[in-house]
Amino acid sequence: MKLICAKDYKGMCRQAANILSAQLIIKPDSVLGLATGSTPVGIYAQLIDWYNKGDLSFAEASSVNLDEYQGLAPDHPQSYRYFMQHHLFDHVDMRPEATHVPNGLADDSDAECKRYNQVIRSMNGVDLQLLGVGHNGHIAFNEPGEAFELETHLVPLAPTTVEANKRFFDSVDDVPTHAYSMGVKSIMSAKKILLMVSGKDKAAVLAKAFSGPVTPEIPASVLQLHPNVVIVGDHDALHLLM
Ligand code: F6R
Repeated sequence: MKLICAKDYKGMCRQAANILSAQLIIKPDSVLGLATGSTPVGIYAQLIDWYNKGDLSFAEASSVNLDEYQGLAPDHPQSYRYFMQHHLFDHVDMRPEATHVPNGLADDSDAECKRYNQVIRSMNGVDLQLLGVGHNGHIAFNEPGEAFELETHLVPLAPTTVEANKRFFDSVDDVPTHAYSMGVKSIMSAKKILLMVSGKDKAAVLAKAFSGPVTPEIPASVLQLHPNVVIVGDHDALHLLM
């Protein structure tokens, strides 16, 4: 595991964008595993800036996102498909058909999990997986539990996650109760993992995840077992690990 500590959020997004753009420059047809949430907003903004300056292209790349709320349409402002369009895809030259997000409106959730697993398999491995971490240690929507879920699954969201995400909705009752999430095995199969963490409210869970035991009670702890993890964060988030 490598730690990169930036002085603030802007700096950490630049550092993370450097790693992602290096990946695209070395391997233009990279498969990118992408995340949503507040943390990666700045990396996407930085990548769009470099794309607009002609320094970067996504034309040969493809992407697979970690998760999507069940029940939200792709054009719902809080859906993760909408987030990705708005924060990245609409502004760069990635081919629309090369971007993948679970279908929140699928009628049959089992079939949707199978379809998404097949999408992930058909991409022959994620080259770089971008991740954030929840306050309870979740990665994607792999919530704390008794065992690691291996592949794409439908998850009842933990009450703390619903609470944390209600800031994006009109009321807590509007927050979906379930989400599709890539499983831990799929995440761990990525060749390289780039974990972004910001703010002092994430410091304790990050320290538990990387200096305590590997346990499904803190899903991010499984990343200790991955051979190529880079954590990029600000000092507030990383100070307990340094
Ligand atoms: C989002 C995702 C989640 C977030 C996590 C942190 O695609 O997979 O695991 O990374 O909830 O969210 P923020 O960045 O909003 O603190």
